[in-house]
Amino acid sequence: MLDNLGTRKRTNYCGELKLSDLNKEVCIMGWVHKRRDLGGLIFIDVRDVKGILQVVIHPEQTDIFNKAEKVRNEYVIAVVGTVTARDASNVNKNMGTGEVELVASDFFLLNDTLPLPIQINEAAMAEEDLRLTYRYLDLRRAKLQNIIITRHKIVSIMRRFLEAEGFYDIETPILMKSTPEGARDYLVPSRIQPGKFYALPQSPQIFKQLLMIAGFDRYYQIARCFRDEDLRADRQPEFTQLDIELSFASQEQIFDLLERLMYWLFKEVMDIELSIPFPRLTYTEAMNRYGCDKPDTRFALELCDLSTTVANSSFQVFCAALQSGGVVKAICIPKAAEFSRKQQDELIDVAKHLGGKGIAFAKVAEAGLEAGISKFLSPEEAQAIIQACDAKPGDLIAIAADTYNTVSKVLAGLRNHIAAKLNLIPANSYNFCWITDFPLFNRDEENNRWEPAHHMFTLPKEEHIPYLDMPDKIGEIQGQLYDLVCNGMELSSGSIRCHRYDVQRKIFQVLGFEEEDLKARFGFFLDALKYGTPPHGGIAPGLDRMVMIMTGADSIRDVIAFPKTLKATDLMSQAPSEVDPIQWKELHLAPIK
Ligand code: AMO
Repeated sequence: MLDNLGTRKRTNYCGELKLSDLNKEVCIMGWVHKRRDLGGLIFIDVRDVKGILQVVIHPEQTDIFNKAEKVRNEYVIAVVGTVTARDASNVNKNMGTGEVELVASDFFLLNDTLPLPIQINEAAMAEEDLRLTYRYLDLRRAKLQNIIITRHKIVSIMRRFLEAEGFYDIETPILMKSTPEGARDYLVPSRIQPGKFYALPQSPQIFKQLLMIAGFDRYYQIARCFRDEDLRADRQPEFTQLDIELSFASQEQIFDLLERLMYWLFKEVMDIELSIPFPRLTYTEAMNRYGCDKPDTRFALELCDLSTTVANSSFQVFCAALQSGGVVKAICIPKAAEFSRKQQDELIDVAKHLGGKGIAFAKVAEAGLEAGISKFLSPEEAQAIIQACDAKPGDLIAIAADTYNTVSKVLAGLRNHIAAKLNLIPANSYNFCWITDFPLFNRDEENNRWEPAHHMFTLPKEEHIPYLDMPDKIGEIQGQLYDLVCNGMELSSGSIRCHRYDVQRKIFQVLGFEEEDLKARFGFFLDALKYGTPPHGGIAPGLDRMVMIMTGADSIRDVIAFPKTLKATDLMSQAPSEVDPIQWKELHLAPIK
């Protein structure tokens, strides 16, 4: 039998009661987290969104004692009682309310529950698939609730900060024409217009630029974005950006804005004072030193270029790579000379997994290089390598020889792998850096064409604009593009946009758009650029990734209330799902047989 609360109202949250509330009569409501029957007393830990409170029920209270005896974990109850100090021996320092307990005088059973498919109060967690199927139960766990509430705080601070800086929160369409950000679109068929489709926004990019043309000057939006791409630990098919755009602002002003925003977020949420301004690396420098454009700068293990050092080497692997225009680069792993064969093989497997052919090793000894490939090197070459890598006796040098891109990818991956394995990453450190001066275009060798390195609405560096007319200079054009990286994760991307119609047209030309196609896809946007477009630029921090960094979550799924699996499925609602044949018909669609 469930109880009726009558006119009873909750007076306090469980988690907020403390010694200063002694002797108050309160009414709390929540879930039974745990029940223990001890020495004739019943203890119930009652949980709500703010925490857990211990309730004590004495046997003299026969009615409520009988009721309390029947409750199981996750039953929903209300308890009226008096806040009382716990005996010194019962104080629980691990609990926010651990110095008090509620001595019950009335008890209401508000709801019961079926046996739970996952336990809320146990440290050992169920399989993730089961947890995602019953996400509403999984979300009762304090760890996930804390993350989701921290996410709320982060968004709230972002809003307050940007509003104080004069930004307007403006919504942009979800049903729209494709804004390409390099992924596949999610498409929505139109019922009213047979054969036509909306695309869900990969980002509000075009609309935020149109808002600048419209004169709003400073825009932001907590924007949902949709991308049909291969998922990873830090990617979801729908995710959220703090989307920002501002007119008449330079790259420096945008950096300053973001640095101050990050400073406030870390200060308010984590009480950490970040050091601003953040360091900057050009794209080329990042690639040369770390092998990637989102380097984790919490540890060193930088790449050393040995290409000139071993230019005259007779070692076949080096010669072959250098002769075909490639490079030879190394990482010096501190104090790893004693790595076993098995440990070295593990690194080789990592390299192969990343597309490399392997890794050559040499141990650094007092007398020079030993073991591994040392027998193929002259003593002078060995010395030169030691010097180039600034290696010390006891270190292990790991060398990759291949094309620049493959060597970069392999050593960047190896760097992260080794740092994690050797515990080189300091805990609770947050290393931000800006990556600047990206190339505007990447060469798609397979299809023999240029593609935007980031997106196609970026202004080239002023001095590179003439290169747009020089086919052999296209690869040299740098865009006014920037990424904000933290601990090896790309947190934000942005750019100064192309506000000049003539330049934007040329960019589309380089990308090989046919006139008709261009008109059909971006005609409205190109037209808009002709009507007094202000210089403008922006940036979009990925909110989910920000929350991951700030809460230490390993998976993006832990920072989203209702996330999707790596197969883009919502296990709880079973989306995507099949639809009724009538809906196919209404949408003028037919399955491919
Ligand atoms: P970009 O495509 O780099 O830029 O995205 C900006 C930021 O969004 C986050 N992000 C993602 N987070 C989770 N899952 C995903 N699938 C995913 N894809 C991207 C990242 C990334 O840095 N319109 C431009 C921004 C601009 O130029 O203003 C854009 O969308 O943190």
